[in-house]
Formats: sequence, structure tokens, C-alpha cells
Amino acid sequence: MGASKNSTSPIFLFFLLLVSSAATSAFNVTNVLEKDSRFSTFNDLLLKANLVGDINREGVVTVLAIPNDNIGDLAGKPTDVIKTILKTHVVLDYYDILKLRTLNKPTIMTNLFQKSGVATYGQGFLNVTKNGTVDQTIFASSVKGAPHDVHLLGTVAAIPPKLSVLSVSHNIMTPGIEAITFAPPPPAKAPAPAHKAAAPSPDNREPDAPSPSDDAPSPSDDATPPSEAPTADAPKPESPVADAADADAPKGASFKHLASSSLGLVLVLASFLAAY
Ligand SMILES: *[C@@H]1O[C@H](CO)[C@@H](O)[C@H](O)[C@H]1NC(C)=O
Ligand SMILES: *[C@@H]1O[C@H](CO)[C@@H](O)[C@H](O)[C@H]1NC(C)=O
Ligand SMILES: *[C@@H]1O[C@H](CO)[C@@H](O)[C@H](O)[C@H]1NC(C)=O
Repeated sequence: MGASKNSTSPIFLFFLLLVSSAATSAFNVTNVLEKDSRFSTFNDLLLKANLVGDINREGVVTVLAIPNDNIGDLAGKPTDVIKTILKTHVVLDYYDILKLRTLNKPTIMTNLFQKSGVATYGQGFLNVTKNGTVDQTIFASSVKGAPHDVHLLGTVAAIPPKLSVLSVSHNIMTPGIEAITFAPPPPAKAPAPAHKAAAPSPDNREPDAPSPSDDAPSPSDDATPPSEAPTADAPKPESPVADAADADAPKGASFKHLASSSLGLVLVLASFLAAY
């Protein structure tokens, strides 16, 4: 490592600069989708579910878009359900058709629903396989027993290495996901008024006082009490449900970190070049 340091440093810095500038220049998924009228319904649903900002902020995603004709009964579902289902169609990594072709074994991909912190039994992951008989890429929920019937149709758009939009035959069925979403939404932001176990003080203080024991009454690594679950926008950005395939998540985070430090990189590169 020490011997080759002088020759690799400029290349490494240049690579970092490329990566960071790529992550900085954001895409807007709805602007990309609206260019292809075959996906206007899917795009409308993303807007209706208020997911465009979430997807854009991820920075590196693959969106599995469903053509208008195949959207099925998805459009008629309650908005909360649409939101949850659409989150399972957003993979937190970049996969275009070429990259999918190189996968020669079942691949677990993290989806945006995993970030909600309420995904269980693999609902936050997709299991992507090949059907060799018909040479198709198959997308399925990684929940046990989920149907393996959604196949890749083609590319809608690609902005490597940030955004890939692929079309799929219809929506991916994730067992149990609608039950989560159908929980009655809490009317206000006040979280869990019922828990009095800790009883921090007798007065009527609002529960936003950040006591470290706040989380204790609701163990979040199994079925979360439905009243806290779906509507609050990402109460826990990183899901504590650590799973085998969680390795995808930090990648996006490090991209953002790189992006935020790109100015620093420019300065580092400039001073390096000046010294060169
Ligand atoms: C994305 O595009 C939509 C529609 O044009 C617009 O309303 C929204 O503000 C854009 N978001 C960003 C972050 O540019
Ligand atoms: C592959 O596709 C064919 C044709 O749709 C289907 O009959 C078969 O069951 C599929 N195989 C697997 C393993 O899903
Ligand atoms: C992914 O799907 C394949 C094919 O059905 C299956 O053999 C494999 O066990 C699944 N992997 C996971 C982690 O669910």
C-alpha cells in the first residue's frame, strides 16, 4: 500500500470527486417518470402517496414502475396502503438491466419500506431471482410464501449511478403489508399516551421530554403496536430490525456523507494538484 501511494492517490481522489458530484446533483423521480406516459398512473400514485421527496432524498435508488395497463387494483386502495406498497417498489441501490443480468443467484435487495421501522418477516426486502426457463428476472417479496410472479419488462430511464427506473409486469405482493397499513391512524402526533409504566413525573408534561427510557415500553423488533406505525413519517430512519441484507443501507448513507463533504474534497484535490 505504501509503495503505490503516490500513483494511486490522484486517481482515488478523482474517483471520490466523481462519486460525490454525482451524488450531489439530484434527480427528481417524478420529472423522470412524467416523460413516459405509459407510467402516468404510477407517477400519479407516487405524488398522491407523497413519496417523491422521500425517493429523491435517497439519492441512489431503483424504482420498479408498473405500466398503466397493469396497475390493477392498486390505484383504488387507500392512500396509506398505496404508500406502503409503493415503498416496496423502491430498491435502495442502483440496478440497471446490465447489472441485473450479472446476478446469477437469488439476491436480496432492501426496499424503502424497510426504513419505516415497521417491516417484519422480510417485508422490507425483495428477493430477486432468475427464471432460467423463460430467461426472466423475477421480483418477489422476501416474505416466506410470497408469489414469485412479477417479472422485469425493461428500462424506463437510467441516470447511473443514482436512479434506475425499470418497468415490471405488475405490482409486487408483500404478504401482510395491507394489515399493517390498515391500522387506525393516530389523529395527533402525541405518541402512545397509554404507557404509564415509567411514570416520570406526576404532572401533565407532554411526552416529548426526551427521556432515555421512552422507547422501552414498545419493543420495536417485533410487531409494533399499530397505533404508532404507518402514518408517522419515518420515526426511526434506520430500522433496528437488523437483517442479513441490511448491508445495502449504509451505502446510501455514505453517498450522502460524500456529497456533503464534496466541497472539502474539491479543496483537498485543489491543494493536492497545487502541490503536484
Ligand atoms: C420535482 O418535480 C415536481 C413536479 O415537477 C415538483 O413539484 C417538485 O418540487 C420537484 N422536486 C424537487 C426536489 O425538485
Ligand atoms: C418459469 O416460467 C414458466 C413460464 O411462465 C413457469 O411455468 C415456471 O413455473 C417458472 N419457473 C419458476 C421456477 O418460477
Ligand atoms: C429467494 O427465492 C428463491 C427462489 O424461490 C429461494 O430459493 C430463496 O430461498 C429465497 N431467498 C430468501 C432469502 O428468501
